[in-house]
Amino acid sequence: MDDVRAVVTGIGSCLPPDVVSNDDLSKVLDTSHEWIHSRTGIARRHVVKPGVSTGDLATAAGAAALESAGRRACDLVLLATTTPDQPCPATAPQVAARLGCAGVPAFDLAAVCSGFVYGIETASALIRSGLYETVLLIGAETYSTIVDPTDRNTAVLFGDGAAAVVLERGSATTPGAVLHTRLGSDGTRPDLITVPGGGSRAPRPGPDGPSTYFRMEGKEVYTRAVATMTASAREVAETAGWRPEEVDAFVGHQANARILRAVAKRLGLPRERVVCHMGEVGNTAAASIPLALSWAASRGDLTAGDRVLLTAFGGGLTWGSAAMTWPQVRPVTALEPASPAL
Ligand code: ACO
Repeated sequence: MDDVRAVVTGIGSCLPPDVVSNDDLSKVLDTSHEWIHSRTGIARRHVVKPGVSTGDLATAAGAAALESAGRRACDLVLLATTTPDQPCPATAPQVAARLGCAGVPAFDLAAVCSGFVYGIETASALIRSGLYETVLLIGAETYSTIVDPTDRNTAVLFGDGAAAVVLERGSATTPGAVLHTRLGSDGTRPDLITVPGGGSRAPRPGPDGPSTYFRMEGKEVYTRAVATMTASAREVAETAGWRPEEVDAFVGHQANARILRAVAKRLGLPRERVVCHMGEVGNTAAASIPLALSWAASRGDLTAGDRVLLTAFGGGLTWGSAAMTWPQVRPVTALEPASPAL
């Protein structure tokens, strides 16, 4: 049991084809490319067409990951998302059915931007326990459906997308093994990153009630993200027995390039080991880490056996890190979201 690990055997992604640049946003908001890019590293983001859902992106990314792993099925589907297709039921069972995995357990996992790392630990534990052999873990979001298009504090930050990994039973020495994980939460400040209205506390807020749009206290989140991600990543790297200079790729939640560089500096990690993908896609919440992994692997920036350190921080507040090695995989990219008829 001690040597048994979940091992990543496939990775796939799906970005909706429509792209919104910072210049496009500056035509409708009091903002500029210079402001957005210098503060965040974001230059553009992909957005879904009206009617295209998180489940459509998740299905396409899930199919791509299964293809990458050379699998036609899995025995568990986990969908990390903050933007499900509807409040009830969960989106994961529909995704599983559309992938031809009907009948297997499938559930949504809500940990906002930490969702993928929460999913990695959950999938790892379930595989190591012997309950499941092959888990499909998807991170998928359509933040364009929850941000207030008139709020320049948040509308410029987010993008839509999905990416997925297949995890299977293997050993700690197999490239792709998830070696150590650690999660955390602090529920005393849910107000820092929130959609305050529309849930059971305020189901149908009127015009003066809490907003049903996403809200974030950016400055406070920034400070907490740097401190928490640094502590979390350091703890997991140390547990894995890695010195900072032995980490080949640092893949943090892609909210802000300045946050990732600040964390890397505190960890003593060389700047060139920091994977920054937010320039092309913005903050895609639960999809951001697997999208960054897929992108880096497609560019040849990740090779089999590399030591990869994942870390995330997000609403809840939630956070977590994972130490893994990179597998021998060929990422597969889906060019279009899956149609509901799939
Ligand atoms: N264009 C131009 N000006 C803007 C914009 C914009 N899009 N947005 C805000 N401003 C203004 C503000 O109004 C403010 O003006 P003021 O000084 O006159 O009040 C000024 O720019 C500076 O704003 P700051 O908040 O100080 O900007 P900061 O450098 O902190 O950057 C940002 C803001 C990018 C949001 C940053 O704080 C950040 O990245 N925060 C963390 C985000 C994060 O980590 N999220 C992860 C979790 S998200 C999740 O879980 C879903």
